[in-house]
Amino acid sequence: MESKRAAAEQAVEYVQDGMIVGLGTGSTAYWAIQKLGSRVKDGLGIQAVATSVQSEQLALELGIPVLSLSDVFEIDLTIDGADEVDSDWNLIKGGGGALLREKIVAAASKELIVVVDHTKQVQRLGKFHLPVEIVSFGAGQTQRKLQKLGCIPSLRLHQNKPFITDNGNYIVDCDFKEIKCAEELESSINRIPGVVENGLFIRLASKVMVGYPNGSVQELG
Ligand code: A5P
Repeated sequence: MESKRAAAEQAVEYVQDGMIVGLGTGSTAYWAIQKLGSRVKDGLGIQAVATSVQSEQLALELGIPVLSLSDVFEIDLTIDGADEVDSDWNLIKGGGGALLREKIVAAASKELIVVVDHTKQVQRLGKFHLPVEIVSFGAGQTQRKLQKLGCIPSLRLHQNKPFITDNGNYIVDCDFKEIKCAEELESSINRIPGVVENGLFIRLASKVMVGYPNGSVQELG
């Protein structure tokens, strides 16, 4: 917890008055939102765009004004977590199921600061099962197409029923073991009819903050 909190809080130091800030989702982004909330209480004037219903609720509880992404031309800075970060700062995201909104928000941001604890750093992506958001119609067909790309897909469940995203879709977690060409895989997956988006974030991160249990943070970028 201390590693995640330290990385998240250091990232919040980049937030300046007047900015539109993208709020990530997950247990690391949680600490960033908390810190932003306390800065807002101290007078920081920002507006935010959230990547999930959960993060939006938290922001509102803390007094952070939240805008709809459609009403925003560009986001100045987004702070979000990740499940894996490789040496080129390519990411796997979506462990919390928010990958679609996270990717839309990241793509609309001038800067994406990724906040992780040191356990998320990997040589090559793929040990973490890649989350893919799919529509429920024909979910079995879509999973078979995913399998043909070389993974073992499994439908994410919540209380014995399919997990439903904020967008009303399913998540399939794909075990690729090791992803050799992440950029190619990202496109191949998104070409499957029924797939909405996948959790590979290629060249979207502008900075990575890596937190350690003693509270220190390594800043990459
Ligand atoms: C949410 O869908 C994810 O992309 C999270 O950002 C990612 O799973 C990291 O989560 P933690 O910060 O909870 O480890």
